Amino acid sequence: MKLPFAEPFKIKMVENIKRTTKEERERYIKENYYNLFNLKSNMVFIDLLTDSGTGAMSDHQWSELMKGDESYAGSRSYYKLKEAIKDVLGFDYFLPTHQGRAAENVLFSVLVKEGDIIPGNSHFDTTKGHIEFRKGRAVDCTIDEGFDPDSDYPFKGNVDLKKLEKVFKENPIEKIPFVIITITNNTGGGQPVSLENIKAVSELCKKYGVKLFIDGARFAENAYFIKKREKAYENKSIREIVREIFSYADGMTMSSKKDAIVNMGGFIAMRDPELFRKASVFNIMFEGFVTYGGMNGRDMAALARGLYEGTEFDYLEARIRQVEYLGEKLKEYGVPILKPVGGHAVFLDAKRFFPHIPQSEYPAQLLGVELYIEGGVRGVEIGTILADRDPITREERYPKLELLRLAIPRRVYTDNHMNYVAVAAANVLERRDKIKRGFKIIEEAPIMRHFTVKLERL
Ligand code: F0G
Repeated sequence: MKLPFAEPFKIKMVENIKRTTKEERERYIKENYYNLFNLKSNMVFIDLLTDSGTGAMSDHQWSELMKGDESYAGSRSYYKLKEAIKDVLGFDYFLPTHQGRAAENVLFSVLVKEGDIIPGNSHFDTTKGHIEFRKGRAVDCTIDEGFDPDSDYPFKGNVDLKKLEKVFKENPIEKIPFVIITITNNTGGGQPVSLENIKAVSELCKKYGVKLFIDGARFAENAYFIKKREKAYENKSIREIVREIFSYADGMTMSSKKDAIVNMGGFIAMRDPELFRKASVFNIMFEGFVTYGGMNGRDMAALARGLYEGTEFDYLEARIRQVEYLGEKLKEYGVPILKPVGGHAVFLDAKRFFPHIPQSEYPAQLLGVELYIEGGVRGVEIGTILADRDPITREERYPKLELLRLAIPRRVYTDNHMNYVAVAAANVLERRDKIKRGFKIIEEAPIMRHFTVKLERL
């Protein structure tokens, strides 16, 4: 018999999670105005709200915490991280920051001016937020396949070169300080970008004299997909692929809470010493001195180790396989999901799940609430509530897709947990006809309403 797959790690420490009854959960969610962000973590059995900062560190990472050097300036741990960034990613200069959006804040303080245009492939919310905050504009140049929930295209995160060149041609080039490619493309469902595409974007950028940056939050998962799906790279190691990806970029921003498997941290890495010098000023102002920038020495040490562990093939295989496994189980039970399953999450298609619930009643939020009540599973709405109102007309903005994201933390849950989640979703599907109406909003903030919105059942 062919030996089945098994995880390349065993469990040294466990954290108990609390079981609750359906009646309790009905009460909890009602008391919290049907907002999943308001729930206390002990009200949740399986927490798939995010894969960010929720991973399990290894024994080696925990031991790095003990070896951390907390010197204000010139910390040993800083140099350990510097070496890891050079070795794994190939950049000579870097600045630590407390998380990914802080890296964006510092870098964009140098690079983004009012009226600037920053093309990319579906910029992440915080990336777009930091561009728009500086009165710049994020232009989405993702390929059309990226917006088609039925397309099985292997690299749905790719940049459309024609769309990008059009932006270059139709705008004064000095208004485009850089292009940013997000790997994997979180907004588009954790979809990867091919190396061929990254290389082509970099060539186009060079032709027009525009810099290229990479939002590398999930760079290792992207490299795994390149190895699996891009013929030319099937015999390359993950580390070789990673080095090649970043060789095409002038720099990167990183949320280390994802693929570097730490609970907090981020950085900016770059080649240009002049950019490093300018960014250092903002880093000192917003984050901390250049050799700690918002991070503990011990956390930098654990992060350095995480960069190596996160780029091991065996780990990545287990990681991506588990996400795929959940996707397969859901499909088996007829639960509609977005295809193909991305690197870090499975997206449930709420429009197809609840065809009888109009978008004005927030079907993806309804699905999130019902899945919580059914099994104590927490996902996150990526639909009308998140899309928010038009800032000028204050009308609801109805997005094309109404999704519930189930993001899988790294090295945290077992396949039994995935089975449990799939059955909980299948049970909701079975009783969906009894769920006649969605929600109405009774209170909302003027911006980023999803975090604090209060809802009532119709
Ligand atoms: N870029 C991407 C692609 C992200 O997914 C995130 C965070 C950030 C930047 C910002 O990093 O949280 O460290 O400040 N994504 C989280 C998520 C919040 O749940 O997808 P951060």
